[in-house]
Amino acid sequence: MIPIAKPFLTQEEAQSAYDTILTGWVTQGPKVEEFERKFADYVGAKYAVAVSNCTVALHLAMILADVKEGDEVICPSMSYIATANSIKYVGAKPIFAEVGEDFNLDINDCKKKLTTKTKAILLVHQVGNPADIDGFKKLCSEYNLRLIEDAACAVGSSYQGKKIGSHSDLVCFSFHPRKVITTGDGGMITTGDEKFYRRAKLLRQHSMSITDRERHGSNKVIFEDHLELGFNYRMTDIQAAVGIKQLEKLDFIISERRKIAARYNEAFRSLKGVRIPHEANNTFRNYQSYVLTFSKDSRLSRNQFMEMMLKEGIATKRGVMTAHRESAYREEFSHLSLPISESLSDNSVILPLFYPMVEEIITNVIQKVMKLLT
Ligand SMILES: Cc1ncc(COP(=O)(O)O)c(C=O)c1O
Repeated sequence: MIPIAKPFLTQEEAQSAYDTILTGWVTQGPKVEEFERKFADYVGAKYAVAVSNCTVALHLAMILADVKEGDEVICPSMSYIATANSIKYVGAKPIFAEVGEDFNLDINDCKKKLTTKTKAILLVHQVGNPADIDGFKKLCSEYNLRLIEDAACAVGSSYQGKKIGSHSDLVCFSFHPRKVITTGDGGMITTGDEKFYRRAKLLRQHSMSITDRERHGSNKVIFEDHLELGFNYRMTDIQAAVGIKQLEKLDFIISERRKIAARYNEAFRSLKGVRIPHEANNTFRNYQSYVLTFSKDSRLSRNQFMEMMLKEGIATKRGVMTAHRESAYREEFSHLSLPISESLSDNSVILPLFYPMVEEIITNVIQKVMKLLT
């Protein structure tokens, strides 16, 4: 069976984790700091704070943005459920807006959903495809809202020639194995705001006033205080050691992924009833996922296609889910209809794309897709 994704982990990552284990500093030590510094430099942000995963990065971003009970945050329903959940964690209400054909938030629908309770917009760069950050920044400054970027899938993608992570003050990344680089699980917040940076570092470690390294490096007895309600959202040094090696390969991995995506685009562009992914002029996408969207005149329905690909030994995955139709949200949002999000979610499919993907597998996927859809 050809999988849809596979992390690119080598002896280098294994050695780096091994070496770190033997140092004895396995959490909140020098590797976490090194990974944060290198990640911030890579994306062009002033600061980066490593955490356990992107879901908790988003939770912290909500706290930093002062989103609280009674507030509303506009976000897409068509996203992984963690996007909406992060709003719920602080007692606020997700207000689901439509997405466009590019899978990203539709700014016009967001404008319609603004109320006096709106506190922030949670902008997702879906499947690594950069959303129109400038448009949303303008909207947020006009209405005095916070912009939070859910860049879980977008590490290494760019918008207006600058890496995602450098455009605004609350950008959250994921290093889950389905992403372009991985630390097993893991997440990062990037910011240019020193206050956010300092508070995020505290919050991820129960708001403990003194770090492990500070205590370790001190020649006096020192006592810590816990400044506010915090969390254990730490990334370990073992994960960070893996992340440092992954980051060194990131540009290479993306260029290889883009070559495979270009092969798919070339082959599938002519297929009737199927739309290939779009890349806007001012963006550079990392192809975290390769998504085909089916229309009514395609030869097979999306579900039939998935069944038949499975029989051919090729895994596929449904396109991006919608939160408002999941059991956890269905009752609360039973009145809500988002025709574009629902249709895109029900008619899109993710094809295998990973590095290394040998020529034989690439041609096999292309041939099977062409056979089924021509
Ligand atoms: C858009 C989006 N946001 C958030 C997350 C959550 O990331 P993590 O698994 O690192 O918590 C994901 C994970 O797939 C995602 O796709």
